[in-house]
Amino acid sequence: MLNTNEFQNSIQKTKEEAFREIDQENRLEGLEQIRVKYLGRKGIITSLLKNLKDFPEEDRPALGQLSNQLKKQVEEVLLQRAEKLKEIQLTLKKGRWFLDYTLPGRKGWVGKLHPVTQVNERIIQIFYGMGFEVAKGPDIETDYYNFSSLNFPQDHPARDMQDTFYINDDILLRTHTSPVQVRVFEKTEPPVRIIAPGRCYRNEAINSRSYCTFHQVEGFYVDTDVTFADLKGVLTAFVWEMFGKDVKLRFRASFFPFTEPSAEVDISCILCSGKGCSVCKHTGWLEILGAGMIDPAVFDAVGYDSEKFTGYAFGMGVERIAMLKYGINDIRLFYENDLRFLRQFQL
Ligand code: DAH
Repeated sequence: MLNTNEFQNSIQKTKEEAFREIDQENRLEGLEQIRVKYLGRKGIITSLLKNLKDFPEEDRPALGQLSNQLKKQVEEVLLQRAEKLKEIQLTLKKGRWFLDYTLPGRKGWVGKLHPVTQVNERIIQIFYGMGFEVAKGPDIETDYYNFSSLNFPQDHPARDMQDTFYINDDILLRTHTSPVQVRVFEKTEPPVRIIAPGRCYRNEAINSRSYCTFHQVEGFYVDTDVTFADLKGVLTAFVWEMFGKDVKLRFRASFFPFTEPSAEVDISCILCSGKGCSVCKHTGWLEILGAGMIDPAVFDAVGYDSEKFTGYAFGMGVERIAMLKYGINDIRLFYENDLRFLRQFQL
């Protein structure tokens, strides 16, 4: 049983709900349903009126007045809405547009570049500022450019490092952007200083960390006196631009067929500043790219004099950089194109 105060509140609430429902109803039959819901024999307002007798005698006149007022108001608003709907129907029947100036305007969305595109462009911009030029290669490659010329021997287990989508025995979807190195070397004499962005494909199990397609940015510099120190310098400058100057780098010895020596580069975890968290698996470090000094075997394949020239190369995953930068924990989000995700990148 409600007390007097609660009864007044419930009248107010009923009024608001009824008005809202009526306002949102677009069909006459719907209005009739609302009428029955509130004013019918077992309707909400009818039961309120029935309950009046349970209240102390001195409160009844005021509460009665409130309830009757509510009943009248709801009847009136129902009538007005019915009139409006009839008017709309009539206008539509006459084949004219009905313009309801009272409706709120529709929000217009401004399209933005996909986050992968944005991060890709940022990476290119940073290297462009350091004197790198952009080159591109085809997504559909031959075994030669994707593997053999990069010193992956035939039937060598190193080929299994990257599960490949083959089109036939010789043609495949490139598994990395490194083949662009060979394509550029074939056409250009050193010095070459190139950044090569592009899409890659791998026949891997799809999960939160790997997807069948993704993007890489390859970088390489060949000249007469290029050293590992140059590589460290350029990558440090890149990381500081991308993630901030307080981020540390770590070069870990690794293996790639086309570089010697090879390294994987880690940065101090940008989420926990190297203290250890779930993202860096409590190591304090995050792997961001592979790099190394270009193997003389690659120079031999393209006819560069490996006695005269040295060069470095590096390759990074764009999605991976984006995930670290924005704290995204599932690579598949980049490919589902859910607008609720994409709209968060209004950079
Ligand atoms: N191509 C390698 C990959 O996809 C990445 C890479 C490593 C590129 C070392 C390089 C490099 O240029 O020097 O895993």
